[in-house]
Amino acid sequence: MEIELDRNVQQRHGILPETTSDEFSRQEFVKSLKFHLAAKVSPGNKGAFEARARPAYARAHGRDPATYAEIRKAMANEPYFAFWSSLQRNSQEMMWKSVQIPVERQLPALVATAKAMTEQGTLRLDPQLEIPRYHRSVDIHCMPGGYHTEFTADDVANGAVYDSAVYIYAMGRMGPLNSDIGDTTIAWLQENVPAFRPRRILDMGCTVGHSTLSYCDAWPGAEMHGIDVGAPVLRYAHARAQSLGKTVHFSQQNAEATDFADGSFDLIVSHILVHETSNAAMRAIMRECHRLLADGGIVIHAETPPYRDLSAYDAFMLDWDTRNNNEPYWGASHEIVAAEIAAATGFDPAKAFEAYEPSAFDAAEAKRTNVFQAGDFGGGGAWWLWGARK
Ligand SMILES: C[S@@+](CC[C@H](N)C(=O)[O-])C[C@H]1O[C@@H](n2cnc3c(N)ncnc32)[C@H](O)[C@@H]1O
Repeated sequence: MEIELDRNVQQRHGILPETTSDEFSRQEFVKSLKFHLAAKVSPGNKGAFEARARPAYARAHGRDPATYAEIRKAMANEPYFAFWSSLQRNSQEMMWKSVQIPVERQLPALVATAKAMTEQGTLRLDPQLEIPRYHRSVDIHCMPGGYHTEFTADDVANGAVYDSAVYIYAMGRMGPLNSDIGDTTIAWLQENVPAFRPRRILDMGCTVGHSTLSYCDAWPGAEMHGIDVGAPVLRYAHARAQSLGKTVHFSQQNAEATDFADGSFDLIVSHILVHETSNAAMRAIMRECHRLLADGGIVIHAETPPYRDLSAYDAFMLDWDTRNNNEPYWGASHEIVAAEIAAATGFDPAKAFEAYEPSAFDAAEAKRTNVFQAGDFGGGGAWWLWGARK
């Protein structure tokens, strides 16, 4: 099914929550606030650093702060940073509230819609699955209840909440289907491994399938699987995929230890999964990828750039989420060295890779409008891809 996309609004589909005009205005306000903070308020932090925090640190230490951790110490008592930081945190909390209200209002209808949409693809849930501690013990990125909490029978609430919120969080820059990370990963594969034709593909930590569905279009003959630990997001993902005409097999599994047979997949991908898992879990996931890949297969994890590729100041700003946005593993995940993890998890480190690929959405916009705008995502409009070939 061909879908005509309006690139400036979130693409409607059969299970996306409706909004009243008041609810929509509230969400648009939060989106505008986030844009204003990113475009107009956040840049002032650099001025505050140069004018006050850096000189004060130099007076106290006899030298400028050199690392992002030292810049964090230098900025700790800077009023402008505290001001921006509190607005940023508030915008995040306002975002969740703005999407929860319409979801709560129409939850029974959303649950009924999901239950009725079962013809295409499959959905396999496991009520016995233990939710990893790294998700149980924190409301990740301030999302109430995270991805797994069930508020009602056959719940889809946090799938619906996440789908609406990502569009606001990304300020529309992940595209009408929030698919930018998948589209960008696919673009990299098609440019760098043009002969690669995966027959079975696994998307780990697929949430509501924002990235997953792009693989159905890129390799229409491939069997597409998506796994996640959260039942509400998977129920929603299955209904969303179906309403967008895509066949995906969703299952509730921990990516650290799945029930797929050895060598089941030619391509394993994850999109912003790794930074939400612990150090030990991330390594277990890579070991599982090694087991699940067929010989010659490829695993790719897409994330924002590692700190070593940024200036100390930019790394300090990117690291804000670690301490302020309930992302406890964010910092450690930005220290990943692909070859080291590959070597520790069964891969040949010589077959590990790290790459940057320009955001597919930004690239398409640049072509369409002839204007390239560096994104706030993926570190200046590019996503960092790391992984290995088996
Ligand atoms: C930021 S979201 C990923 C977004 C999604 N991949 C996309 O492209 O839109 C992270 C997801 O990973 C899932 N997750 C975290 N740890 C996991 C694990 N060990 N196994 C499977 N899924 C996991 C979470 O439940 C959540 O849905």
